Amino acid sequence: MSFVVRGKYANIWGMERIFIKNLTEKIGEEVKIAGWVDVRRDHGKLIFIDLRDMSGRVQMVALPNHKEAHSAASKLRSEWVVEITGKVNKRPEKMVNKNEELGGVEVEIMEVKILNEADTPVFEINDDGREVNEETRLTNRYLDLRRGRMQKNLRMRHEVIRFFRNYLSDKNFAEIETPLLTKSTPEGARDFVVPSRLYNGKFYALPQSPQQYKQLLMSAGMERYFQIAKCLRDEDTRGDRQPEFTQLDLEMSFAEQKDIMGIIEEMLITAIKNLYPQKKIQQIPFPVFTHKEAMEKYNSDKPDLREDKNSPDLLAFCWVVNFPFFEKTEKGGWTFTHNPFSSPKPEHLEMLMKKENTGEILTTQYDIALNGFEAGGGSIRNHKSEALEKVFEIMGFEKEKIWQDFGHMLKAFSSGTPPHGGIALGLDRLMMILQNEPNIREVIAFPKTGDARDPMMDSPSDISKEQLLELGIQIKKPNK
Ligand code: AMO
Repeated sequence: MSFVVRGKYANIWGMERIFIKNLTEKIGEEVKIAGWVDVRRDHGKLIFIDLRDMSGRVQMVALPNHKEAHSAASKLRSEWVVEITGKVNKRPEKMVNKNEELGGVEVEIMEVKILNEADTPVFEINDDGREVNEETRLTNRYLDLRRGRMQKNLRMRHEVIRFFRNYLSDKNFAEIETPLLTKSTPEGARDFVVPSRLYNGKFYALPQSPQQYKQLLMSAGMERYFQIAKCLRDEDTRGDRQPEFTQLDLEMSFAEQKDIMGIIEEMLITAIKNLYPQKKIQQIPFPVFTHKEAMEKYNSDKPDLREDKNSPDLLAFCWVVNFPFFEKTEKGGWTFTHNPFSSPKPEHLEMLMKKENTGEILTTQYDIALNGFEAGGGSIRNHKSEALEKVFEIMGFEKEKIWQDFGHMLKAFSSGTPPHGGIALGLDRLMMILQNEPNIREVIAFPKTGDARDPMMDSPSDISKEQLLELGIQIKKPNK
């Protein structure tokens, strides 16, 4: 037998707490609500309290005839946590507050239960917080996240993730987690590393992306993978960059460029139509530019194509394709422009295999830009070991080093790996644009500061002598 505490059994088990947004369906009834005191306005006889929960905000009133409740209400302060039993009254027409979603009702307080008191908050919570210093906001992030704007950002982020999850699951993609403790490879940005206790002097690296694992899942016959993946890169922080960020990452076997681009384009259009009906996508299907065209026409590989840049609800997507595979390094060698695991355009495979005209080889890389930001990127991959080896040879890697760093990929490719390709969307950047926010910190629950700190947890921080000893690490103080 299962316990049912809802619905018609509510009167046996005690009154059930309801969400504030549902009060309009309870006019004339006695209800129990709970939340935070937003504002208290004490007019002596009448005390007005605005109560806030995760679903909304409502005005409540304590009248002198409910003596105990009135006296309790007079003690309440902002951000105290309370449970209220009260009667839902419809407000007379003249008293309706049109600016508030629940401005048509008022709760007459019968009983107040104080669940927790609160120190005076260090900043206002019932505004959008844009004027508050960011260090203070991040130090008190649990308070900062209580404001309506931040609540909305995190809830919409959840809705978008839920939509992507369902969308891809319906298309037979499986969500698979890949490790965070992995191996440092010369792949792009600087790695964050984790010292090993069991193997002193050796280090794990945190993944810059699940790139290698997702390809190995294609070798493993999973065919369609996705993940809401944490990626870690020790790069300098910017408005659209964090050392720790999230990708919607996917990979698909037996796929061509048009298949991946098609899935992503349709998924984005459907998500926006469903979750952001007020937004207008400037052009469907999304325009496609070659890298050369984009540079010639817009001098950018992530052009901002919006016809009206002041319009907050306009979304201008475009694809950029045909990037050069390699570019010259400062030392005169070659390095990859995007992703060493990409395959060249099929017609350029021969040049790669012969290591000829390196600068002319184009990659199957496709980037998706949105309002001037790089919102994602992916490619069709080399699925033959000889071709992947050639990429590293062109970059000047010795055979031994290639096998040391990428032997697992080469062996997997020689074990029957299907042709495959994929893409990763920068989820934080996408949410920043959809929520009309100026930087990605506004759509991440606990971001790092511009100089890569978490001022709330005070990290990075020292570790104990015992921990250092176990890890076999001695700290050498940097010379000043
Ligand atoms: P890439 O490195 O282009 O590709 O990353 C994909 C997308 O992730 C976002 N992004 C970031 N967002 C916030 N902070 C950062 N530091 C940051 N770095 C990148 C961008 C970018 O377009 N494995 C490949 C994908 C693939 O080929 O499938 C990859 O990681 O929006």
